[in-house]
Amino acid sequence: MSPPFSDFASLAALHRELEELFLQHQDALLDLELPLAAERLDRFEAAQRLHLEAEEALLLPVFSRAERIRGASPDLFTSEHQRLLEFLARFRSELASLQPGSTGLRRGVLRLLDAETTFKHLSHHHELREETYLFPTLDRVTDEAERRELLAAFLARVKR
Ligand SMILES: [Fe+2]
Ligand SMILES: [Fe+2]
Repeated sequence: MSPPFSDFASLAALHRELEELFLQHQDALLDLELPLAAERLDRFEAAQRLHLEAEEALLLPVFSRAERIRGASPDLFTSEHQRLLEFLARFRSELASLQPGSTGLRRGVLRLLDAETTFKHLSHHHELREETYLFPTLDRVTDEAERRELLAAFLARVKR
């Protein structure tokens, strides 16, 4: 069950949930369960997309009100979102090209896992910067009424 979200800092829990969904996809890959791995990748991508889109639509405009922080501009977050989605599109097509039962299957899975490690690093750094700069800044620049309203709108978009 999701914890209560009383402030923006608590949204870090949603990052942990996304990480868990991605690991479930990787569990299936390790077991060479290709259809299950593909299904879980789709599920992760859908959740990730809702998360990124809700941040861009609701959180980054409010974040833009604050003074600029080097290494954590709204544009940087948006361009990283784009890169994350590009990675996922690549994984989807690489996974679709793997042949169940073929001799090259294990090597193909290893190649995919290597590429996914790069993705996990990018994603981790992105989330860390949001948790260090974006969420605390949002807590600082909003009053309680706006915080509650914005959090509710954000959660309504990502928890579908
Ligand atoms: Fe983000
Ligand atoms: Fe995020």
